[in-house]
Amino acid sequence: MTTNSDSIRIAAMTLAHYEPVVALWQASPGVGLSAADEKAAIARYLQRNPGLSFVAVQQGVVVGAVLCGHDGRRGLIHHLAVTPACRRRGIGTALVQRCVASLQAQSIDKCHLFVFRDNEDAIAFWQTHSWEIRADIAIMSRWITETEA
Ligand SMILES: CC(C)(COP(=O)(O)OP(=O)(O)OC[C@H]1O[C@@H](n2cnc3c(N)ncnc32)[C@H](O)[C@@H]1OP(=O)(O)O)[C@@H](O)C(=O)NCCC(=O)NCCS
Repeated sequence: MTTNSDSIRIAAMTLAHYEPVVALWQASPGVGLSAADEKAAIARYLQRNPGLSFVAVQQGVVVGAVLCGHDGRRGLIHHLAVTPACRRRGIGTALVQRCVASLQAQSIDKCHLFVFRDNEDAIAFWQTHSWEIRADIAIMSRWITETEA
């Protein structure tokens, strides 16, 4: 699949993309990284969710990436990013379209994502595509490692 820029190809993410993808995420302030993004964890994620995460590649260079998976009921999208020089060319849109189509193909009819409240550009992007901020739900989290529990 190509985006509206013919030289850009969307491909399923594999572990071979890990280093350039992490470099892109690290250079993207709107993406929050943690130990859950180390190579072994991403390997496990891609293995559990094959064919749902994507990269955008221009002349062999990763210029966009997104993680996507589901738990059998709902989809979840993480870490959408496009390199600054390639933004506003439809690449983010194309990556999300591939995620959504792949979730639909697995009978998932709703998807969630996290976005930092102060990330106005990303919120504008998601709202352009009809994603809604949920005012009725609070995210609750806790560490479940033995040392933190
Ligand atoms: C959010 C992001 C992935 C969008 O990627 P992109 O390839 O530029 O997005 P698209 O070109 O597909 O944009 C589609 C539409 O979304 C809206 N949009 C995208 N970026 C926007 C911005 N900065 N401000 C307002 N609207 C925006 C526009 O309506 C745009 O259409 P237009 O260019 O015709 O006006 C990119 O800005 C990015 O990587 N940001 C940093 C990382 C980040 O914050 N990720 C979000 C994690 S939740």
